[in-house]
Amino acid sequence: MTASPALEAAATAVVRSAAVPFRASPAEAAAVLAETVARIERLFPAVRFGVGCAAQVRQLALPGGVRVTLAVTAVTDPAAHPVAAHTLTLLVTDPGGLDPAGVAELVRVVEAQPFTGLELGELRRQLPLTLGLPRRLGREALAGAAPLLTIHHMTDFLAMVEALGGLGAPAEALTVVDKGYPYRLSARVDAHLRRAGVAVWPWAAMGDALADHADRAARLGRRPLLVDDGGYALPVLLDRHPGLVSRFAGLVEQTMSGIFKLERFAGRLPMPVFSVAESRLKATVECYGIADAAARNILSLLPHEKFEGQAALVIGFGRIGEQIAEVLRARRMRVAVFDRQMVRLVGAHERGFTTAPSLPRLLAAHRPMLVVGSTGRTSVRGEHARALRRDCYLVSVTSRNHEFALDELADEARRIVDVGLLGTRYDLPHGPAVTVLGDGYPINFHHAESLPNKYADLILASLLVGACALARPGHGFTPGHNVARTDQVLETSGLLEGYYRLYGPDRQ
Ligand SMILES: NC(=O)c1ccc[n+]([C@@H]2O[C@H](COP(=O)([O-])OP(=O)(O)OC[C@H]3O[C@@H](n4cnc5c(N)ncnc54)[C@H](O)[C@@H]3O)[C@@H](O)[C@H]2O)c1
Repeated sequence: MTASPALEAAATAVVRSAAVPFRASPAEAAAVLAETVARIERLFPAVRFGVGCAAQVRQLALPGGVRVTLAVTAVTDPAAHPVAAHTLTLLVTDPGGLDPAGVAELVRVVEAQPFTGLELGELRRQLPLTLGLPRRLGREALAGAAPLLTIHHMTDFLAMVEALGGLGAPAEALTVVDKGYPYRLSARVDAHLRRAGVAVWPWAAMGDALADHADRAARLGRRPLLVDDGGYALPVLLDRHPGLVSRFAGLVEQTMSGIFKLERFAGRLPMPVFSVAESRLKATVECYGIADAAARNILSLLPHEKFEGQAALVIGFGRIGEQIAEVLRARRMRVAVFDRQMVRLVGAHERGFTTAPSLPRLLAAHRPMLVVGSTGRTSVRGEHARALRRDCYLVSVTSRNHEFALDELADEARRIVDVGLLGTRYDLPHGPAVTVLGDGYPINFHHAESLPNKYADLILASLLVGACALARPGHGFTPGHNVARTDQVLETSGLLEGYYRLYGPDRQ
């Protein structure tokens, strides 16, 4: 059957669409439409508006014969959505002379929708510890500091930036370095930061970001300070800008991979490190949260997969890996564990997990349908692919895409298939199809927001307590690692008491 000419024309006319869900009061929803039109006008100054449109719909004629429709709509079935849910929709009805890159740019501009007051109000209620810090530590705690932050572009971070302002470090004193993971709300978080006047740099330009930040801090009469999540900043500062190092007051590091990246500077670190990564406070709550967030995102990416009774393998039985193994066992999977350290392997065995002293042996004998890598290093290489005996999913929680040697998997594969949101599938010559979920990036961030904000609150507040401690003259931290002192500062900060009051047995 052939389609009617009218239908064919309609089908070829709508080439691209984007939909941004958001929540807003009626007045805010109207403002969202006006702001979006203004953003498009900045990209295409000669924009002309169509006539006779409904109040919440704009038809725009852009230079080069481009026609788009922009609409803000309330959801038709409010009972099936969060309160005050709306959608900002872009339809590119005729791309005219715009090439695909231009259309993608147009979509990016529409998706760059800052958060509404209603959304921010909700966010603030989720992070009371972080937002309570100015009251606890004083509004001058960071008055002399200029923090450069490499933290995930997630909504919890917006509360952290607000708290920084309350502690005396306003937007112009901040630099944010974007780690570039595909978080669920990345575009909106980015737009929000930029609208607030924060300088945002991509992680690959860290050298330039550091130089720009140091200059700006000097102009503002502030001392630069690093707050990092994964060792992005200090190694680059030490390698590329040795002349700037003495200006920096110190580093607050949130994750172990950042601590590993400092190993090559052992004994030569010229500034104090406040290691939230190694703190007892972080160990108390976060590892389970990450494991749970990883498991939840695996389930949401694979809603029709059957996990119960199936074989799983966890590689790396460290702080996070042991929690993942327990979470998968609680989901009724048959869980095996491999760790290259004998003490950890025996630890897993004693906890009742299936183990073997060789990874290829375990892969072949246990036949996992789910393999989770949590080593912080590269654990699965080309040679391991040959030991796989069935179709399976490879999932990582390690920073960036280091856990699986994807180039070696590609060399082993007879075919590589892009499977969209899920990632990439490698069809191996001996039969198994191996899907690397999220292309090997940490799965809890893959089009997701990782931990619930009420969890992240304690960790983000801890990073700020660290920043305030290092900004204080006579802080008592020495150059290099200060694990015991970090524990002391965090455990006397009142954060744990606050957390216990909020979520403990006496909660009102
Ligand atoms: N996704 C997230 O939200 C998130 C948050 C924090 C940290 N991380 C990442 O998770 C990684 C693991 O963190 P952790 O605190 O559990 O680290 P950890 O050091 O406690 O555990 C790592 C374990 O892996 C084992 N291991 C290392 N290389 C191995 C190999 N090739 N084969 C088998 N076992 C190996 C080690 O012996 C150790 O037991 C970090 O390095 C970081 O990259 C992710």
